[in-house]
Amino acid sequence: MATPSHSASHSVSASLTAEPSHGLGGRIQVPGDKSISHRALIFGALAVGETRISGLLEGEDVLATAETMRRLGAEVTRLGEGDWSVHGVGTGGLREPEQPLDFGNSGTGARLVMGLVAGHPITATFIGDASLSRRPMGRVISPLSQMGAHFHAREGGRMPLTLTGARRALPISYRSPVASAQVKSAILLAALNTPGVTTVIEATPTRDHTERMLKAFGAEVKTETGKDGALAISLTGEPELRPCPIVVPGDPSSAAFPVVAALLTPGSEIVVEGITLNPHRAGLYTTLIEMGGDIEVMNQRDEGGEPVADLRVRSSRLKGIDVPPDRAASMIDEYPVLAVAASFAEGTTRMSGIHELRVKESDRIAATASGLRANGIKVHESEDGMVVEGRAGEVSGGGHVMTHMDHRIAMSFLVMGLAAQKPVTVDDASMIATSFPDFIGLMRGLGASFTGQAQ
Ligand code: S3P
Repeated sequence: MATPSHSASHSVSASLTAEPSHGLGGRIQVPGDKSISHRALIFGALAVGETRISGLLEGEDVLATAETMRRLGAEVTRLGEGDWSVHGVGTGGLREPEQPLDFGNSGTGARLVMGLVAGHPITATFIGDASLSRRPMGRVISPLSQMGAHFHAREGGRMPLTLTGARRALPISYRSPVASAQVKSAILLAALNTPGVTTVIEATPTRDHTERMLKAFGAEVKTETGKDGALAISLTGEPELRPCPIVVPGDPSSAAFPVVAALLTPGSEIVVEGITLNPHRAGLYTTLIEMGGDIEVMNQRDEGGEPVADLRVRSSRLKGIDVPPDRAASMIDEYPVLAVAASFAEGTTRMSGIHELRVKESDRIAATASGLRANGIKVHESEDGMVVEGRAGEVSGGGHVMTHMDHRIAMSFLVMGLAAQKPVTVDDASMIATSFPDFIGLMRGLGASFTGQAQ
């Protein structure tokens, strides 16, 4: 198969510099949760009738999923900011797309939709940008092939790939070798159009938004904890999914950036409203509080089936800690910004059990470690961990950081630049639009200072 073509949207890179800032202040809402937004569109496309979504993240990753759902036959309409309507086709009703499905930078979109297509007797080609085309797809190819789908992928199970779904998919019981909500969700989505009961067994529990949404749309899902502590999630196939209104809460992975910026920038006090603190997502906040972060969890409530709260954050002197490896799944996307927080802490922070970071939008262990070094921080990198020597508030900064097409690397080092002694520049801020399109505007509203091309 041909080598990957670049998605067009990011051909121009734009460097950006964050400058030392003081006293961030204000109340903000971060954009809707990315994981829940993808799933809302996908489940809406499978339910018969209209699903209304409010608070949808309108970042490039999710917009790619919206476009994909259209190509697969659903009617997807933007009604206003964050307000969307999806008229679905019913489980089993997807139509074969005429053109390749382009997922841009989004591993979640690509892997979840592979599951969806695997359960339908249709053929689709999956393409994405250079970062996505490097990421491993074998983790979904393997279980979905067991269910009867056929894949034609580049060497090493990479995209672009063409997938022909099963004519009549087989239910499986699958113990996932990687702690991945994407793998779990791909199998469960394929299982929707599979007769019988499909089970996914997870040694380490991962985010459960798919299970929550399956139940909300009327599917039968059971979760049981085995003697060894593993979770078995079982879905009875071929349900009739009923449309269900979805309120997408704020994304804790996006909130992580203003929260860490406020902790590190002296004289700050901010409130972040309405983020989900689903226990499978809240690991960073537990960790920052253990490090001495002044984070007050306020107004805890349930919104649309997810636990939601507001956070009041004040600048704090942090201390280094050992982050327990069994917390990794609940903060898997937050290690780069945690490493930035750790650089400002007093003492050493040890992170382990994070091998999965090597196969995210970039190799996040390598990208984080080299960004830290460029800013005067000592860091030890191992195959599945990082040890960061904190500088007790005195971070020199002044570095130029390579983001490797990774939005979270870009935002993490821009946060560093706000609190360091000298400005920090990232080579390419354009990828921030994949998950947090108004990051710069929102941070400026809090008093943060940025200069450069990407404004
Ligand atoms: C996601 C799961 C995580 C996470 C990604 C979003 C999801 O990936 O890193 O940003 O929405 O299911 P893995 O489950 O592959 O670790």
